[in-house]
Amino acid sequence: MQATAIAQPNIALIKYWGKRDLALNLPAVGSISITLDALYTEVSVDLGANPASDQLLVNDVEDPDRLPRMSACLSRVIGEQRPFARIETRSNFPIAAGLASSASAFAAATVAAAAAADLELDQALLASLAGQASGSAARSLYGGFAELANNGDAIRLSALCDEHAWPLKVVVAITEPGPKATSSTEAMEISRKTSPFYNTWVQQQAGDLATARRAIEERDFATLAAIAEHNCLKMHSVMWASRPPTVFWSSATLRCLQTVRKLQQDGCQVFFTIDAGPQVKAVCQPEDMAAVQEALSQTPGVQEIMTTGLGPAAQLVRKS
Ligand code: DP6
Repeated sequence: MQATAIAQPNIALIKYWGKRDLALNLPAVGSISITLDALYTEVSVDLGANPASDQLLVNDVEDPDRLPRMSACLSRVIGEQRPFARIETRSNFPIAAGLASSASAFAAATVAAAAAADLELDQALLASLAGQASGSAARSLYGGFAELANNGDAIRLSALCDEHAWPLKVVVAITEPGPKATSSTEAMEISRKTSPFYNTWVQQQAGDLATARRAIEERDFATLAAIAEHNCLKMHSVMWASRPPTVFWSSATLRCLQTVRKLQQDGCQVFFTIDAGPQVKAVCQPEDMAAVQEALSQTPGVQEIMTTGLGPAAQLVRKS
């Protein structure tokens, strides 16, 4: 009746931005991500505690705002007729600040809920259920490099290469630790409805995915770097041109981009990516990690640096 699972957040190198079906939370585009190792969310689902209604504690504090989405996630996995649950989540990094905390939380919640209800679901079904809670969460059911393909009425995930096969590092520069003003769900809908660049974004995604897939297969860092930066800036351009515009960046975000450009000019193998928040993730080769950490930590406005390698798929840690 009680189970605990751990999931690591993932970062998209080719981004998911836009929904084809809002009710089913189906993405309008495919995406490619890397799952991290040092950052994690642990989620416990207790179906035997018998509370009067679902209860959610996030880092020990009751969180009624996040409860409806978490309750819906549990009902999707276990069924509407389930008992009320006590859910506890704990993350070792700032949540809702563009660090993919919803991805790790819903991936772990899906695995924990299935185990607490004694359901044996395969990885593909768990990924699809997690993806209905939050699109990016599906990818945390896979370790290393994963691709989420967008084919018709369902999502299909595939592992491109595991975390040991190409052990890149990620240096995360936190420029503003607070929660973001607009959720990605909201911002995506604004982009879809109003951005003049949205259709072009959707049309070009297959080409970007193919380029990145090939670069990963061939461990071609320079090609992956160029397509990931391009895809990230294109996604933010879609948002900047929407009405109202969505600008997640802070001035320090732009300074971090300049730091990464300077590192590249000095010969470091590094590239940046930015999600729905002001933080910058610099992906690099292990031998360049120290230089990247040093340069980003000295960039004005950077408040904290977190470094991680690539990590495993979401997993069950306890069941009773
Ligand atoms: C910019 O997965 O948070 O990080 O499905 O509405 O919950 P919902 O969106 P979410 O969006 C992630 C957007 C992104 C890009 C990505 O991770 O691919």
